[in-house]
Amino acid sequence: MAFSFFKKSAKKEAPATTSGSRYHDLPVKEIIRETKDAISIVFQQPEPKITYKSGQFLTLIVPIEGKEVRRAYSLCSSPFTDEDLAVTVKRVDNGLMSNWLPDNLKTGDVLKIMEPMGQFTTEFDKARKRHLILFAGGSGITPILSIIKSLLTQEPESMVSLIYCNRDIDSIIFKDELATWETNHQGRLHVIHVLDNAPMNWQGYSGLLNPDMLKKLFERIPDWGIDNTTYLMCGPEGMMKNVDTLLAQHNIPKEKIFKESFVQGTIDKEKKQEATPVEADEKKAREVTIRYDGNEYKVMVEPDRTILETALDQGIDLPFSCQSGLCTACRGKALSGKVKLDEEEGLSQSERDEGYVLTCVGHPLTDDVVIEIG
Ligand SMILES: Cc1cc2nc3c(=O)[nH]c(=O)nc-3n(C[C@H](O)[C@H](O)[C@H](O)COP(=O)(O)OP(=O)(O)OC[C@H]3O[C@@H](n4cnc5c(N)ncnc54)[C@H](O)[C@@H]3O)c2cc1C
Ligand code: FES
Repeated sequence: MAFSFFKKSAKKEAPATTSGSRYHDLPVKEIIRETKDAISIVFQQPEPKITYKSGQFLTLIVPIEGKEVRRAYSLCSSPFTDEDLAVTVKRVDNGLMSNWLPDNLKTGDVLKIMEPMGQFTTEFDKARKRHLILFAGGSGITPILSIIKSLLTQEPESMVSLIYCNRDIDSIIFKDELATWETNHQGRLHVIHVLDNAPMNWQGYSGLLNPDMLKKLFERIPDWGIDNTTYLMCGPEGMMKNVDTLLAQHNIPKEKIFKESFVQGTIDKEKKQEATPVEADEKKAREVTIRYDGNEYKVMVEPDRTILETALDQGIDLPFSCQSGLCTACRGKALSGKVKLDEEEGLSQSERDEGYVLTCVGHPLTDDVVIEIG
């Protein structure tokens, strides 16, 4: 498949060493106030340059309140159009990192970041002719903007339709930038704004995406046929669920739909927890072998700990970012044994079938688990 778009509990801030080439110290070149609660952080590209793909994310590693805190932030810059690397951070109520950054970060500060990662990305090909229909909500615009910029500049025959949902007009991140891209690529980028609270003179759509609204939106979007169309979404859980349901009602095949989640779903998780009793296999401590960076480690994982937590506690510097089963930074392949995942959303069915696991939400169910990372 051309696209490789694959895809909370209280987070434990794990002590981890950050040596090696997976990590970079990057100076903050500029901080841009995008809206009242969102900033973009522009990092100066080092030499040699950090390579990345549109749709991938950086992991920012920041000492806050005496702990090393990691969070994933999607790159809103495009490797084809932007000299530097940029991420956009939107404040979350009572959030640790998303409030610390706008309140404390200054131009010239140096932040530790982990190399770009993530599967919500695609390869671009000048000969390709395709239509991307993108759904973004709030800060979910970040990977989407990067993909838009790359597609418009790298695939002259392709086009993009963006349905972008926000609370109100002042919370639209990249409103002017999107308008400029739309003007400069007439007919190839079509942006449709949807606001929860629209002002009186609002010309666009308002209210939550529902079947009627989606039907109307689809009437405004060119139909290039299902073979040439791909659907991508990134936004709050409620929006993603609505879009998913609506696309299913339009008989859009699942393999044409790609998602990036910033936060772990609560709806399905609660249902799942009620339905799934703890199996006897899950109540025992078990040894896990981890192969990473040419080394082999053995860890004894207690039933209430994840494989990643156990490894980090022992000072093993494994890759991770969200610790919620969303970003795939901790992905490894189980070469043997059985692993249970608390959260499966981050992996596609085909990845799971191939034996991929996420160590941040993974628990061994047998004594012969061997996981290869990287
Ligand atoms: C792959 C990936 C890419 C991401 N890209 C971006 C990005 O480009 N821009 C961006 O602003 N964020 C992005 N995030 C989210 C980001 O990593 C943090 O989760 C977010 O900034 C909140 O962190 P915090 O430390 O402020 O909140 P925490 O202290 O971790 O959480 C505080 C509370 O807020 C809730 N919460 C956490 N995140 C969210 C959220 N996004 N929306 C609503 N409630 C939340 C938590 O459940 C918790 O109750 C991304 C996440 C992932 C997994
Ligand atoms: S650290 Fe993000 S999925 Fe495991």
